[in-house]
Amino acid sequence: MPLVTTKEMLTRAQAGHYAVGAFNVENLEMVMAVVQAAEESRAPVILQTTPSTVKYAGLDYYLAMVQTAAARASVPVAMHLDHGDSFDLAMQALRTGYTSIMIDGSHHSFQENINLTRRVVDACAPSNIPVEAELGKVGGKEDDLEGGDGNPFTDPQQAAEFVQETQVDSLAVAIGTAHGLYKGVPKLDFERLSAIRQLVTIPLVLHGASGVPDEAVQESIRRGICKVNFATELRIAFSNGVKQYLAEDPDVFDPKKYSKVGRANVVALVKEKIALCGSANQA
Ligand code: 13P
Repeated sequence: MPLVTTKEMLTRAQAGHYAVGAFNVENLEMVMAVVQAAEESRAPVILQTTPSTVKYAGLDYYLAMVQTAAARASVPVAMHLDHGDSFDLAMQALRTGYTSIMIDGSHHSFQENINLTRRVVDACAPSNIPVEAELGKVGGKEDDLEGGDGNPFTDPQQAAEFVQETQVDSLAVAIGTAHGLYKGVPKLDFERLSAIRQLVTIPLVLHGASGVPDEAVQESIRRGICKVNFATELRIAFSNGVKQYLAEDPDVFDPKKYSKVGRANVVALVKEKIALCGSANQA
């Protein structure tokens, strides 16, 4: 079916107390794998690209791949700009045909974040394209954006004010997750998440879910998370498949042979994450 926006997907997830998995894709095989996993799980799904991924091949290339995968599928698929780092990139994604946009103003001051987010919300409104924003700083390094350590978590009162001022559709919160691999076991601030949920009614988003224990992801969903982002674990699954094939058959020269193993690894992983999010059979 044609691409859908994340608006209805996340509203339904919120009402049904589950989360939609949002998976970062880097190449054709990962696009195919994520949509295949969603189709086999009968789950709505979000595919997303960061600015550095967009730099690698272009918004139009990724959109065309995801549109093709969605057209062959019967489950709802949305195409999301992850961590849009400027008004211009957000507008390029909108014009290209992305069906969901994140503007990440979390590295700016509170007021500047509000202003930037509001501009993007206003620009996307005529096309009914929903916007995700971030308040507080998710740690670690996502793309070229350095979250850093010890950054402030999302303040519940500020979150309420931010949503009121920007009219944004969904909000990424900082409650102790980080992008990339964790050194120890991450400890999430669930009380803070519940406090945010009490004051903010729009869908909440969890970034940095790779390496977060399953129980912690589930507890976050119980407390109001409606979209969970996974990137690093998919990259590892794909690369491990390729490495394993090349180690066993170093003379192989057909990319289809080793890419297929990477793709199969991503299908298996994404199915697990969909089950974890509770979105299987929700399409
Ligand atoms: P991970 O790489 O930790 O899975 O984070 C993904 C993410 O939040 C993308 O925005």
